[in-house]
Amino acid sequence: MQLETPDFCHRAQLTERMDEPCSRDELRGCLRDIARTNRWFMASRPLLHWLDALVLPPLAGPLRILDVGCGYGDGVRRIDQWARARRIPVHLTGLDLNPDAVAIAGEQSPATSNIEWVAGDVFAYAPPEPVHLVISSIFTHHLSETDIIRFLGWMERRAEIGWFINDLSRSAIRYHFFRIFSKLVGLHPFVQHDGPVSIARSFVPEDWQRMCAAAGLDANDIAIRAFAPAHLCVARRKPQ
Ligand SMILES: C[S@@+](CC[C@H](N)C(=O)[O-])C[C@H]1O[C@@H](n2cnc3c(N)ncnc32)[C@H](O)[C@@H]1O
Repeated sequence: MQLETPDFCHRAQLTERMDEPCSRDELRGCLRDIARTNRWFMASRPLLHWLDALVLPPLAGPLRILDVGCGYGDGVRRIDQWARARRIPVHLTGLDLNPDAVAIAGEQSPATSNIEWVAGDVFAYAPPEPVHLVISSIFTHHLSETDIIRFLGWMERRAEIGWFINDLSRSAIRYHFFRIFSKLVGLHPFVQHDGPVSIARSFVPEDWQRMCAAAGLDANDIAIRAFAPAHLCVARRKPQ
């Protein structure tokens, strides 16, 4: 499918093929190639960097982390490895709107894994126990600006210690690079389409400043930071 080049001054109003109905096999192929791309472009590095720098308060039980829009679950499994390496007891939940994604994330996890996979819309989700950290990766660009502001408020209310958004950085260079790269590497057709579209639907720092302000967050309480080559992150650590 030929993409019309967006202008990059604003978030593109485009849709992604992975958000349309498709078979579980098709979705599995798409999510597997997103996970490969995550690995190649070191997508988990910003979150792990943030987790390493967090000074955790004493907790009565495990550190409870919720990953919203978990997709293939590779991000949650990476946090599991991070926590095991540091002997930090964690309770990890991967939440995704798409029940097929949740089934696929479960299939990809070792039998010994105690990650909880939940199918549901974040806005309808009430965590059964309080959550310390809410995180997401390449999820927010799937939402409208109104829903991102709502999501910021949702995280601010739910996350007892803090929250972390990892998404993409909007730019023409990244868009064209990924458009060509995904074809050369032969990534799944959905990823060849959705990768550049995701970049065009993503953000520049001013977008996050505006949306955080609209959610009632003080600019001094959030950190917006770019991570080469492709990511733009927003972090919030609540005073304890
Ligand atoms: C591009 S995938 C990201 C997957 C994974 N986090 C990663 O980093 O590769 C975005 C995911 O967000 C999910 N999603 C979209 N809207 C959602 C919502 N309202 N609540 C929960 N998940 C949602 C989609 O089903 C999709 O699996």
